[in-house]
Amino acid sequence: MARPHIEFIQAQALPWDASVYRDFRPGADAKVLSLDSEDGECSVLIRYPAGWKQDAGEHLLVHEEIFVLDGTIEIAGVEYGRHFYAYLPAGYPRPSASSKDGAVVLTFFSATPKAGRGKPANGLYDDALLVKCIDSLGMPWNDRPFDREIDPGIVYGYNKTLRIDPYTGELSNLFGTGAQTHPDGWAAKLEKHECVEEMYLLTGDIHAGNCGVMQAGAYFWRPADIYHGPYASMAGYVSFFRCIHGKMFNIWSDHEVDFGWNPPYKPVVPTEMKKYVQEPMAQTPNF
Ligand SMILES: [Fe+2]
Repeated sequence: MARPHIEFIQAQALPWDASVYRDFRPGADAKVLSLDSEDGECSVLIRYPAGWKQDAGEHLLVHEEIFVLDGTIEIAGVEYGRHFYAYLPAGYPRPSASSKDGAVVLTFFSATPKAGRGKPANGLYDDALLVKCIDSLGMPWNDRPFDREIDPGIVYGYNKTLRIDPYTGELSNLFGTGAQTHPDGWAAKLEKHECVEEMYLLTGDIHAGNCGVMQAGAYFWRPADIYHGPYASMAGYVSFFRCIHGKMFNIWSDHEVDFGWNPPYKPVVPTEMKKYVQEPMAQTPNF
């Protein structure tokens, strides 16, 4: 079954679960953000305790994409600190993995994560997919969202492109806007895409006409062909963003819809996640 529409949940409301990767990453616990119940493709937060260490000499049978939210993790001799990014394809050799002081890592597996020992099978590893290490804090912002022309009506934003899949065009980037950003005239067309959009909000706020006010820690998985927007941000924001299972381009609605600050929270989540839905943390008035 395809992964269900989740839009949106605050990751803070989900419990840490030590059983998810008890065998695969012993000692680490996880929050499952989104899961394909058939092939195990998933998006998770993994929390590694200080002093965590993985036995040497493994490779994965699936692709692992990581973005470090906090702390530092070492994989195959590379230290990944806060807001470091990597895409480590299946078969990438991992002679070591550890976390001296602990880490929380936003992690995406292309299927149920499994490890192999010894030499990877012929053809498993594809070097063209490897993004070994990007320190996103050191990258300059690009003011052309998603490396495409700015569409009429879009809220002006900026991005840091972290990965474009050489075969599918799938995209991972940081995307954000400045403070006090909103559509001209407080009305805008809605947008949809032929790809999935997935987001984890790193900082700031997003006021989304279709689902409410996201705060840092908000997460969504939005399947293709679902209209969304318009958008505004009071404080500005930075998000980790993926366009997957297709290429990103915008399809706009015929008509504009009116929009204002503080749209109501209208979460769409699968049944098993409903117990974790709670109103996002209220913005603290500064008066
Ligand atoms: Fe979109």
